[in-house]
Amino acid sequence: MVKRRTCVFISGKGSNLNNLISHSRKSNFPIKICLVISDNKKAKGIIYAKKYKIPYIFINTNLTNYENKIILNLKKYKISFICLAGYMKIISGKLINIYKKKIINIHPSLLPKFKGLNTFSRILKNKEVKTGCTVHYVNEKLDSGNIITQKFFYIKSGNNEQTLKENTQKLEYKAFPEAVIKIFRYN
Ligand code: GAR
Repeated sequence: MVKRRTCVFISGKGSNLNNLISHSRKSNFPIKICLVISDNKKAKGIIYAKKYKIPYIFINTNLTNYENKIILNLKKYKISFICLAGYMKIISGKLINIYKKKIINIHPSLLPKFKGLNTFSRILKNKEVKTGCTVHYVNEKLDSGNIITQKFFYIKSGNNEQTLKENTQKLEYKAFPEAVIKIFRYN
């Protein structure tokens, strides 16, 4: 199997990155993670890039030309697919145009509900019966591209933001690799 050369973008803990790396080490998983990009020098997730000897770079998104630096590095590492795994910056139209239908994101809600930030507090406040996660294609509108996979669970009365997050992340570790397999099975 020819694996797609993939870049994972992160901003924080990187548990989804770690999970994707584990899956990508299996011979029949369709992607190989060849680059990790973080917009945050302190992102804990960088330890996984180091552990598995995957090249990684930091991007200072305060600089005006940071998009060009991203694009140059994606070219340098011959990246053909991008996973946003807890990357908390908006991707520009320029990058989306170059990687049309080749960028996917994981979001901790059942989209189209609860786009954007602070999802768990809003879910609780809204007294939702169920919640979960969504893997979707990235387009120019926030958390709005076509949905690839969703997984859900029922909210219990004792749930708080922390337990919702934990339950959601357990589902994310199934949903993200499943979405990747689904995409390349149909290509
Ligand atoms: C994940 O739960 C992901 O759904 C969320 O950030 C977390 C990153 O965790 N993404 C967003 O909220 C994007 N709007 P991780 O760094 O441990 O993978």
